[in-house]
Amino acid sequence: MQINGNPYRTIWRTSAGDVEIIDQTKLPHAFVSCRLASLQDAADAIYNMQVRGAPLIGATAAYGVALAMTADASDVGLAVACEALMATRPTAVNLRWALEDMRARLIDLAPERRADAAFARAADVCDEDVAICQGIGIHGARLITHVAASSDGPVNILTHCNAGWLATVDWGTALAPIYAAHSAGIELHVWVDETRPRNQGASLTAWELGQQGIPHTVIVDNAGGHLMQHGMIDLCIVGTDRTTATGDVCNKIGTYLKALAAYDNDVPFYVGLPSPTVDWSISDGVADIPIEERSAEEVTHIFGRDQQGQDCRVQLTPDGSPAANYGFDVTPARLVTGLITERGVCAASRAGLAGLFPDLAAGWAE
Ligand code: MRU
Repeated sequence: MQINGNPYRTIWRTSAGDVEIIDQTKLPHAFVSCRLASLQDAADAIYNMQVRGAPLIGATAAYGVALAMTADASDVGLAVACEALMATRPTAVNLRWALEDMRARLIDLAPERRADAAFARAADVCDEDVAICQGIGIHGARLITHVAASSDGPVNILTHCNAGWLATVDWGTALAPIYAAHSAGIELHVWVDETRPRNQGASLTAWELGQQGIPHTVIVDNAGGHLMQHGMIDLCIVGTDRTTATGDVCNKIGTYLKALAAYDNDVPFYVGLPSPTVDWSISDGVADIPIEERSAEEVTHIFGRDQQGQDCRVQLTPDGSPAANYGFDVTPARLVTGLITERGVCAASRAGLAGLFPDLAAGWAE
């Protein structure tokens, strides 16, 4: 993506060999990068959500393993690195996918060859993510173009959280079709759920769309149902952190309520799905997907910029009121109109996914 006229990815290696990320905790008010120099830096960046979004978590974990190999490339060092990274965030399956991939490629190499091989594979993981997201963009843009053909004004799309460029290495999943359709000249408007408690919609999606000149409006999380009842949304597109082999989708908390409202109002509800986000080992999302619970402080306090331009954090709740902070929820496949993948759009079902990905589905029992 172009930021202030310069092309950026969300994670990259500098010519000096350092790993750099965009620090997403500073957006939208400051666009700054920071260096990851060690396994601990990578694990902290994922845990503290300087990087976030399922595909970018996977890519950062791959670089985390590479950084670990520069310090201790023994079998024990590899195991410790994978364990530390795996403990950072539980829901996005891309983390497990990336770590299993890295371990499988490194374990049979001599320790002195592991760091170089790990950096090379981490770079490939990033390039593969970019290609996957471009594919999602192409297939999703066709859907949007189809809606545009029968619409007078702009196509109105609702999205939740941030499943854009910042959640991936480039392009995004839910937002990739929007970027592709916008580039093709389709008139669009995006309704952006603020996405409490961390406000990834208000701070990250709104910033991304603004940078690309795409018309958008930030709404409170509870507004979507009202807009759908009044015919103000043509389709919803969201991301996913883990999708079962049967098409249940786990995404940022509140996604399920949007899907219910969309179902009740006959609004198509699509999910941008990179194939590494499918967990072929499970078939019941509600029962089988671990849901991250984060600090209550993310609910009781809010972060922003004050009138003097200073970053600040204020308390919303009474002293002593307990708060619960569930990070994700599961939208059952029956509420999902279709999955937009890098290989095309399919039904949210075992048959739909296995039809597009027979190579990945093979070997997993029904
Ligand atoms: O807690 P986050 O910000 O990591 O949650 C991100 C999401 O829920 C995204 O929608 C999901 O990772 C899909 S990203 C392409």
